[in-house]
Amino acid sequence: MHDFKTLVTQFEGRIAQIPALSRSPESLYEPCRYLLGLGGKRIRPVLCLMAAELFAEISEDAWQAALAIELFHNFTLVHDDIMDHAPLRRGQATIHARNGLTAGILCGDVLCIAAYQHLGQIRNTLPTILAIFNQTALEVCEGQQLDMDFESKTQVSVADYVNMIGLKTSVLLAASLKIGAIIGGTSAGNAEKIYELGKALGIAFQLQDDYLDAFGDPIKTGKQAGGDILANKKTFLYLHALENCDEATRTSLHQLNNLPDNEKVAATTALFRATGADRACTHAVVTYSEKAFAALDDLACTANRKAPLKKLVESLLHRQF
Ligand code: IPE
Ligand code: IPE
Ligand code: MG
Ligand code: MG
Ligand code: MG
Repeated sequence: MHDFKTLVTQFEGRIAQIPALSRSPESLYEPCRYLLGLGGKRIRPVLCLMAAELFAEISEDAWQAALAIELFHNFTLVHDDIMDHAPLRRGQATIHARNGLTAGILCGDVLCIAAYQHLGQIRNTLPTILAIFNQTALEVCEGQQLDMDFESKTQVSVADYVNMIGLKTSVLLAASLKIGAIIGGTSAGNAEKIYELGKALGIAFQLQDDYLDAFGDPIKTGKQAGGDILANKKTFLYLHALENCDEATRTSLHQLNNLPDNEKVAATTALFRATGADRACTHAVVTYSEKAFAALDDLACTANRKAPLKKLVESLLHRQF
């Protein structure tokens, strides 16, 4: 069995050799290699590999699926950064900021196509995996659309938010696990259980992402501090603050829009703290992580095979980036 670090190291070797990204013109493919070369945590491909290894040796099919998933994830990041007007990703300029909007759009397209090229390499159970992948890809788009719609919507509930992040983020983590488990040859019942694990883990992951956007160290996150606040994202922090403040504070939360960027971020994060939204968010991360642990316990496979996955879920609970 392999731990997180070993799998990431092996995966980096694979990422560095993706054939589709050494074509021309440079202006199209260089930004793709740039983004992939900036690293990232590689959580999703490792989830796929670890899920496969719960049930069997890691096969070539598992590696191809892991590559497809990471390429697809990077595609969503490039287009997400355009939609979110984000200047920074993984501590460096975003592709649209560095190379322009055309490069951002096309580089995203290329990464998506490259993802499907790797999916096409899968030899066993391809129709099943393709169906999961396509369903997931549609759901991510649906989640991203809701995320954008919520920016200008005033009536958004915490339940709406959880549904939205379930779509934009959780389904890809869940599908990574499920695809890995299916490649490993697991039963249909286990495949559903591991999907539920991923759904809960993904909610915790996005709650933590939103927390770090407001309160994290931008040196560690590699993203602009307070980007969600500047984009008027309806995060858990924002919705919780709105629900748990008096009328006067609610009015002032709306009026923060008129402040210059840095003052808006400082005043909003202060308000998040004053209303206890920061603590509630951290608590929600723990609640969803516990659901993920419970689903992992429920999984029918040799207990010691679960150890690397358990360690990874634990480490995500405390992540700073
Ligand atoms: C960022 O994902 C997008 C979200 C769903 C929050 P990651 O935090 O996994 O990004 P990288 O790949 O590690 O940079
Ligand atoms: C992104 O959510 C989800 C997807 C990319 C599908 P965010 O917009 O919060 O991700 P970051 O914070 O930019 O990584
Ligand atoms: Mg974003
Ligand atoms: Mg976004
Ligand atoms: Mg974010």
